Amino acid sequence: MKWVIKPIVFLSCLSPLTVLCWRAYFDDLSANPISDITNTTGTWTLRFLMITLAITPLRKITRWNILIQLRRMLGLFAFFYVCLHFLTYIWLDQFFQFEDILKDVARRPFITVGFTAFLLLIPLALTSTKKMIRRLGGRRLNTLHKLIYVAGICGVIHYLWLVKADTQRPSIYAGILVLLLGYRLIDLVRTKSLKTSVAPITAEDDIGGAARAEGYDV
Ligand code: HEM
Repeated sequence: MKWVIKPIVFLSCLSPLTVLCWRAYFDDLSANPISDITNTTGTWTLRFLMITLAITPLRKITRWNILIQLRRMLGLFAFFYVCLHFLTYIWLDQFFQFEDILKDVARRPFITVGFTAFLLLIPLALTSTKKMIRRLGGRRLNTLHKLIYVAGICGVIHYLWLVKADTQRPSIYAGILVLLLGYRLIDLVRTKSLKTSVAPITAEDDIGGAARAEGYDV
C-alpha cells in the first residue's frame, strides 16, 4: 500500500510547480509574472504547512497510520515551496542585492515575519534525514519539530500583513491554523489529565503504605 500511495502523493505535491512551469512556458501568466510566481509558491508553502499540521489530528481521528509516513514528505514539500518562494524574491524581485534584501527584511514587517518562518523551517528540514532522526532521538526531535507551529503562525501573519484590503483568504488560513493548534492543545490537556488520574504510585508517593507495612497507624 505504502509503495503505491507515496509516489502518488509525491507526484501530486509536484503538480502546483508543474502547472506554474506549464503556464510560464506557454505564456499564460498575468501581466505581472513575478507576482504570479511569488504568490503561487507562497500560497503552496502555506497549504503544505497546513496539510502537514493536519496529519496528526487526521491520523488520530481516522486511525489511518499510513498518514504518519506521509508527514515528513509533506513537511519537506512545504520547505521546497518556501525555498522557491524565497528564491523568486531574492532573484526576480531583488536581483540578489543582499544589502537591499537585508534592509527590506528589517523595514517591512510582513517580510520580517515571512523570513522568520523560513528560518524556522530550516532546522526542521535539516533534521528530517534518517541519520539525523537516529542521532537526535525521538524526544529531542519532537521538541525541535514543534517549531512548525511557530512557522505556521508566522506564515499566516505574513499573509495577513501583506494583503492590503481583502483579508478573507488569510483569515481562512488563520481559522484553519487555530483549529489545528486548538486540537493539539485539547489533546495535550486530555492526555495530561489522563496520565495524572492513572499515575502509578511511586515509592515516594507510597510513604503511607510503607509506614502501614511497618505497623504505623497512618
Ligand atoms: C513559511 C514562510 C512563508 C509563507 C507561508 C509565505 C506565504 C505567502 C503567501 C500566502 C503569499 C501571498 C499569496 C497571494 O497573495 O496569493 C506570499 C506573498 C509574498 N511573500 Fe511570502 N511566505 C513565506 C515566506 C516568505 C519569505 C521568506 C519572503 C521573503 C523574504 C516572502 C516574501 C513574499 C513576497 C514579497 C510576497 C508578495 C507580496 C505582494 O504581493 O506584494 N515570503 N507569501
